[in-house]
Amino acid sequence: MSTPPSSDAAMTTPQSYFEHMYARSSDPWSFATRWYDARKHALTVASLPARRYRSAFEPGCSTGMLTGRLAERCDRVLAVDAVPAAIASAVTYLAPFPHVTVRAARMPADWPDETFDLIVLSELGYYFDDHDLTTLIGRAVASLEPGGDLVAVHWRRPVDEHARSGDDVHNRLAANPGLARLARHAEADFLLEVYTRTPPEPLSVAQREGLA
Ligand SMILES: C[S@@+](CC[C@H](N)C(=O)[O-])C[C@H]1O[C@@H](n2cnc3c(N)ncnc32)[C@H](O)[C@@H]1O
Repeated sequence: MSTPPSSDAAMTTPQSYFEHMYARSSDPWSFATRWYDARKHALTVASLPARRYRSAFEPGCSTGMLTGRLAERCDRVLAVDAVPAAIASAVTYLAPFPHVTVRAARMPADWPDETFDLIVLSELGYYFDDHDLTTLIGRAVASLEPGGDLVAVHWRRPVDEHARSGDDVHNRLAANPGLARLARHAEADFLLEVYTRTPPEPLSVAQREGLA
C-alpha cells in the first residue's frame, strides 16, 4: 500500500501567506524600526567584497530597506518581490534612487534573464521546497558573472511556516560547485555568508586589491 504524502512535507511557502502578512501590516518584519534588522543590513553591506558593483539583484526585497543600502554601493539595482503591497512600499521608499528598479516577480519562476555581478539572497531561501531552492540557486549561479559575488543571510531559528532552516539554505549554497565561500559570519540568530562565482579562482579582498 502506498503511503500518502506527509502533511509536514516541506512545500514552498504559498503567496497567500505573504499576502496576508502585508494585509495586516505594510512592514510585516518591522524593517523600518527594528535594530536587529538595521544592524544585520549594515553587516550585509559591510561584507560586500567589492567597493562598487555594476548591477545587483535582490529577490524578495520587501519594503526595500536593504535595497536602499545596496543602492549606495551599486551602479544599478534590480529588486523584486512577489507581493504587490511590498512593491508599492519599496517603490515609494526607493524613489530617491533612480538607479534602482523595483518590480513584481515570483521566484524562482520569474528569475530575470540577465547577468549580475552581485546577487543578495537575504531572508528568502528558507521559503522554498527542494525543487524550487535547487532552481533558485541554479538560476543565481547561472546569472552571476564570472567572479561575481553572492551574499546570503538567513535566520537560523525554527519557524513553522519555513520549508527549511537557514542553515540548510547555506549548506546547499556551499555544496554548489559554481560557488566558493569567501566569508562566513555566524551568530545564534543568523548566518551571513559571502560567495563568489567560480571559475575563475576565488580571490580574497586583499588579493583583489593587490595586497596578497
Ligand atoms: C523576510 S522578507 C526579506 C526582505 C529583504 N530581503 C531583507 O532581508 O531585508 C521576505 C520577502 O520575500 C518575499 N517573497 C517570499 N517568497 C517569494 C517568492 N517566491 N518570490 C519573490 N518574493 C518572495 C516576501 O513577500 C517578503 O517580502
